[in-house]
Parts: sequence; structure tokens; C-alpha cells
Amino acid sequence: QRVSAVMACLSIIQQERGWVSPESEQEVADYIGMPAMAVHEVTTFYNMYNQKPVGQFKINVCTNLPCQLRDGQKALQHLCEKLGVEDGGTTADGLFTVQHCECLGACADAPVALVNDRQMVSYMSNEKLDQLIDVLKANAK
Ligand code: FES
Repeated sequence: QRVSAVMACLSIIQQERGWVSPESEQEVADYIGMPAMAVHEVTTFYNMYNQKPVGQFKINVCTNLPCQLRDGQKALQHLCEKLGVEDGGTTADGLFTVQHCECLGACADAPVALVNDRQMVSYMSNEKLDQLIDVLKANAK
């Protein structure tokens, strides 16, 4: 059952290193005893794994239908404009990456965002997004 550990390994790597590089995939493959291509297939199947370096704070904004109906796209646009990045882009100071994402399983709280794959933020009005950015900036390392 070693193969069942691949997602957990990738998640730990992402938390430790910020992203899953090809070298990290190879390390997981060697450790678990599976082909590196099979690990890569997992990395690329799920959109939660970062396949390139991201900012210190990665903010995923859900743009699936329930969130769209509650201004999810507007929330994404507001964040992108506020931070001066395109969807999927990272600010020049390396602090923020903003990207759209699939349903986060909290549709009743729409629009929803997720910070660094761990912290869910709900009912994202422009004012709450501005407050979120201020708090994250204050906590930057
Ligand atoms: Fe956005 Fe489900 S559609 S959390």
C-alpha cells in the first residue's frame, strides 16, 4: 500500500518547499518505489499542487458556478487588480500568488478563497479581501 502515500508525500513537500519540483517528484518516486512518471501524473492531475514556485501567500479563489453566482469572478478580479497580477501570477515582491481554483467544498459560504492550501476564507467581499491582504502582509516573513 506504499503507493497510497503519494498524495500525502506531495502535500508535505509542498508545505516544506512551497512547490513540487521534478526533483521532488523523483525523490517521492524513489522513496515509495513507483515510477517518477506515476508521481508526476498525480502532481498534474490535481490543481492543488504547485508545479512552479509561488509567492509566500498563495490565494486560490473559487470560480466554480456557486461562487460565480456570488461574485467569485469579481473577487478574483479585485485581488488581481489590487496586487497587480494576472490570474496565476505572482507579485514582484514574491509575497502573493493569485489563481482561480475549482470548488473548495464550501459553496454555501461563497465566494470562497483558500490561503496556502490550508486557511479557508468565506464571503469574500472586496472589503474582506483588502483586510485579508493587510493581515497577510503584516504576517509576512
Ligand atoms: Fe466555490 Fe463550491 S463553488 S466553494
